[in-house]
Amino acid sequence: MNMLSETAVEKVLERKMTNAALKMSGKDVCVFYGEKQALYNVNLDIRENTVTALIGPSGCGKSTFLRTLNRMNDTIDNCRVTGRISLDQDDIYDPSIDVVELRARVGMVFQKPNPFPKSIYENVAYGPRIHGLARNKAEFDEIVESSLQRAGLWNEVKDRLNEPGTGLSGGQQQRLCIARAVAVSPEVILMDEPCSALDPIATARVEELIHELRANFTIVIVTHSMQQAARVSQRTAMFHMGLLVEENDTDKMFTNPDDQRTQDYIMGRFG
Ligand SMILES: Nc1ncnc2c1ncn2[C@@H]1O[C@H](COP(=O)(O)OP(=O)(O)OP(=O)(O)O)[C@@H](O)[C@H]1O
Ligand SMILES: [Mg+2]
Repeated sequence: MNMLSETAVEKVLERKMTNAALKMSGKDVCVFYGEKQALYNVNLDIRENTVTALIGPSGCGKSTFLRTLNRMNDTIDNCRVTGRISLDQDDIYDPSIDVVELRARVGMVFQKPNPFPKSIYENVAYGPRIHGLARNKAEFDEIVESSLQRAGLWNEVKDRLNEPGTGLSGGQQQRLCIARAVAVSPEVILMDEPCSALDPIATARVEELIHELRANFTIVIVTHSMQQAARVSQRTAMFHMGLLVEENDTDKMFTNPDDQRTQDYIMGRFG
């Protein structure tokens, strides 16, 4: 009979979690907006097929860090990133990196659902088209259907694929954006507060979806909701004033965090 003590079981689980393959890694990441420094020497590993939640009070640098992972900060004029960020060991800031290809490998879903002013079908087919992932109508149809299936939206839209994406409800629009992200077969999906514009029912659907997507993708999600972080993630990273103050298994983070600032934050003492 297996008589492992509770701590031994915990250790085994922990080892299992830490053994998940490394997908992305930030080393000594600093980010500046002009003169102002927003992140200080952040070291964070993102593991494969894991949901990593980024939490912390407003302005602590969650979105800033998230955007370093697919170089979305490049689109902000005075923003400068130092340190090293790797995807499968490769430095994504190396001059040889094609940023368009990088963003296909590391996709993003934003806070406000932002479908293109095009049909539902075109919203999903757009990425595969610009990346040359399908050769004919049948292949596009296949990608559109499977992406909408994966985003849990197919049954609701299969009879109205030619209607505008903007005509869907907010929750449906966000799932359409997830389908759009999934359509180019990314390896990592970044989500910045993907549920903050959704009602509780739509939020629950997206959370369920995140849970399912983890089997095939690596997910990093920024959230203000402790409950959401606890529900959807396996790893949690807590930011405070531009510093990564703690990173841990989500269960540990919410029951017995190591850092006082994490404790204060999850107890609602600030932020
Ligand atoms: N485009 C920008 N130009 C200048 N400063 C910026 C810019 N974006 C963010 N900052 C600053 O960088 C710091 C971190 O901001 P960031 O948006 O990453 O925080 P956050 O943790 O995502 O906050 P929130 O929870 O409110 O979304 C803040 O002080 C913010 O004012
Ligand atoms: Mg933010």
